[in-house]
Amino acid sequence: MDRKLYAESKVELTPFIARNYDTIMNSISFGKYDRFIRKAVQDMNIDKEDHILDLGCGTGKNAALMLEYLGPSGHLTGIDLSPDMERQFLAKHSNDNRLEFKKQRIDIPFDAGRKYDKVLVSFVIHGFPHDVRKKILKNAYDHLKPGGQLMILDFSEFDLLNMPWHHRLVFKTVECKYAFDYIERDWKEILNNTGFTDFEEYLYFRKYARLLKTKKISPIKN
Ligand SMILES: C[S@@+](CC[C@H](N)C(=O)[O-])C[C@H]1O[C@@H](n2cnc3c(N)ncnc32)[C@H](O)[C@@H]1O
Repeated sequence: MDRKLYAESKVELTPFIARNYDTIMNSISFGKYDRFIRKAVQDMNIDKEDHILDLGCGTGKNAALMLEYLGPSGHLTGIDLSPDMERQFLAKHSNDNRLEFKKQRIDIPFDAGRKYDKVLVSFVIHGFPHDVRKKILKNAYDHLKPGGQLMILDFSEFDLLNMPWHHRLVFKTVECKYAFDYIERDWKEILNNTGFTDFEEYLYFRKYARLLKTKKISPIKN
């Protein structure tokens, strides 16, 4: 990427980080990242017929795990703006016709051409200014079927000041200022104001990471 859309963002990855993303995540988590993602995907309770939209899908690693739960009529669309991610995603999944990739920004309105049972946003939404996060949530909402589920896998809510100093040091070194803001917000309230209800949460990594599942409120019929 030549120039960042959002100067402070660390989810807009450099080509080097994008090309080595899975290895880097596994190294900085001392080998725990694989097991964590596998568990989080299991907690998504994917049905074999689900149609899933993965916003900011990255290398396709999460898609590969989700595909294990999908049957022949299941479908997964991965969306990402990075050409390095596109290459890796397509290399992993070129022979699977349940899957498609779209090179597309998720922070502006778009139409993926279908509606989904589940939308996953995994370690993406924390890396944007708050007004932009709302646009991503709107895209998720617009692409869900009534009663479909949004799944945000990301940091949980916590107070930087109450963290052990060595955890705070790592978080502040690795993460951007948008993430510092993300962890302090009340996400259930935000999502509720954006058209979502029925929350379920699963915590990982000493409760610093969370899968937050929430359902799209069906339009009220008069
Ligand atoms: C931290 S990575 C997470 C990747 C993947 N979701 C995962 O959990 O492994 C963030 C991803 O978001 C993508 N991304 C960042 N800004 C984006 C935007 N505006 N539109 C689409 N994708 C974006 C990046 O290219 C990158 O693949």
